[in-house]
Amino acid sequence: MSDTLLFVNAAQTVTCAGPPRARRGGEMADAAVRSGIGVAVQGAEIVAVEPDDVLRARFPDAREVDCDRGLLAPGFVDSHTHTVFGAARFAEHELRATGVPYLEIARRGGGIHSSVRDLRSRSDDELFALAGPRLARLAAGGVTTVEIKSGYGLTVHDELRTLRVIRRLADAGPCHIVATCLAAHEVPLEYRDVPGGREAWLDAIVHELYPQVARDRLAAFADVFCEPGVFGVEEARRVLEGARPHGMRPKLHADELHDGGGAALGAELGAVSADHLAAISAGGVAALAASETVATLLPATMLFLGTGRHAPARRLIEAGAAVALASDFNPGTSPLQSFPLVLTLGVSELRLSAAEAWIAGTVNGAAALGLAGVTGQLVPGFRADLAVHAVDDYRALPYWFGERLCVGSWAAGRACHAPR
Ligand code: NIG
Ligand code: FE
Repeated sequence: MSDTLLFVNAAQTVTCAGPPRARRGGEMADAAVRSGIGVAVQGAEIVAVEPDDVLRARFPDAREVDCDRGLLAPGFVDSHTHTVFGAARFAEHELRATGVPYLEIARRGGGIHSSVRDLRSRSDDELFALAGPRLARLAAGGVTTVEIKSGYGLTVHDELRTLRVIRRLADAGPCHIVATCLAAHEVPLEYRDVPGGREAWLDAIVHELYPQVARDRLAAFADVFCEPGVFGVEEARRVLEGARPHGMRPKLHADELHDGGGAALGAELGAVSADHLAAISAGGVAALAASETVATLLPATMLFLGTGRHAPARRLIEAGAAVALASDFNPGTSPLQSFPLVLTLGVSELRLSAAEAWIAGTVNGAAALGLAGVTGQLVPGFRADLAVHAVDDYRALPYWFGERLCVGSWAAGRACHAPR
């Protein structure tokens, strides 16, 4: 028996084939959807994307995965999550419904701070055990690569602990995991109300935490919540510039609720992505469009916060930016573990076409993690990250929202979510 796996009998194949880099502006309109095309996988790699009969002739001994006239697609790349946390935050959800704003809840010591108290009280084993089923639910929606941020530890010790749990999740597989150090998620309460506290926490991040993260290679990226009322542009610059000598590339939570100049900072620093952007200024749009920084939009967060507003996706695309979609899965603002619903919101709320939404959740998600040459496309030489969905048209996935349509996903050729 050969070790080749053939994915055949798909009604449509969303290849997303194209250059191995972020797609910008008008390039996002083409997801390279084909009919009658299958995929051959050997080990962890895609080796051929051809008509089924051509594949069968080339690989006569291969095992077949029958896509059953469904949709064959690249695995989604969820490039922004906070998957390692303890408990849910039901009370805060209701509190916001009564009109208390997100940042006011944080000012009162809730929000991110409640997840921080909770995470600090749990063991590594508990955090690992809680995160595993969450990743399985993401994989069950067709996700094969997941970025996970720290940021609920907010001590050097608890941030390192979180990053080590993320490392364990990566080692456990089968989904690919990318780690980001988000120690600058908030000013920890014990630093907040003391003179010089903010600076002391930033010093601890840059001078104590980062060297240890780098020594054990615990994170590929550094992130900061750059938002008026949390960290300002100069503080964000310090945290991100401070990460660079330690080998961590910058990412930012930028202009989520108010415009604080975060998008322009991301562009200036050459950040791999600037995320959220619901309150981005016209200058921020222009700066991102002129940069290599991916504009990662998180529409589930805006929906769940009930803000009634969204990032200006069309303006970003029309200006020539590269737009990615991600879940922002976290217990405060986006307890969402279904990536296809993010595509739905991309179309219905952000006004993307279905093809743009697919590119945003695959190729551009990969680019937002520096992986545009590795995953996100069904092309020979790319990693064998695939999913099969029980629909016969690529537009059907964002359309039939709320349904569980993914019937199987594979990361590097290994099943993440078993076919029914
Ligand atoms: O991306 N905005 C900051 N961080 C998260 C929310 C974290 C939380 O509320 O626990 C976000 O929305
Ligand atoms: Fe986030």
